[in-house]
Amino acid sequence: MDQQQLKIEAAKTALKYIQDDEIIGIGTGSTVNCFIDLLEPYKNRIKAAVSSSEVSTQRLKSIGIEVIDLNDADSVPVYIDGADESNTSLELIKGGGGALTREKIIAAVAEKFVCIADESKYVETLGQFPLPVEVLPMARSHVAREIVKLGGNPVYRAGFTTDNNNVILDIHSLEINQAKALESKINQIVGVVANGLFAHRPADHLILATKNGIKEY
Ligand code: A5P
Repeated sequence: MDQQQLKIEAAKTALKYIQDDEIIGIGTGSTVNCFIDLLEPYKNRIKAAVSSSEVSTQRLKSIGIEVIDLNDADSVPVYIDGADESNTSLELIKGGGGALTREKIIAAVAEKFVCIADESKYVETLGQFPLPVEVLPMARSHVAREIVKLGGNPVYRAGFTTDNNNVILDIHSLEINQAKALESKINQIVGVVANGLFAHRPADHLILATKNGIKEY
């Protein structure tokens, strides 16, 4: 089974979290795209979706699923999203697609956060995947200098603008053993909008598709 097939298997397994007449939270990325592509038969059962990116919103709308503003959602019982890395505590690095801030907001609101991923995302120590940080454009150099003081190597994601009109710094060379502490420290840098560590709000469940079958944590 190749990686794309594993993503589809993870997405299929997450369908069991869909409940009739509920609002569903939808993340961003290639694994979530597999999930959205499976949703058409469920469109009359799903009340509406809240979405973490313009790309996912368009994909949802194209199959006839209504996307509402998060402020209009009375509750978000479940949020389905991918990850760039997960450790065994289900702390995540997210934001490879640049949608981390909206993803974090929906994850914070959701009662249950179900992460779907292929086995390549499951790691012992977070940090091999560069940690994305969304930054207000005028603060980019300041934030980069502060990140260097924390021991990271920030790289500007040139030519990329987030859905919130901000920029991304990807932090290389981190070995993240204390994810919560690092998440807080980066958030304290003035000009940071959000960082891609999901440690204070980890996933509740991880559906991991492996060559030996689905594993659920
Ligand atoms: C989007 O900003 C990210 O957080 C994605 O959820 C994450 O990068 C996983 O994407 P893939 O499913 O494409 O690997």
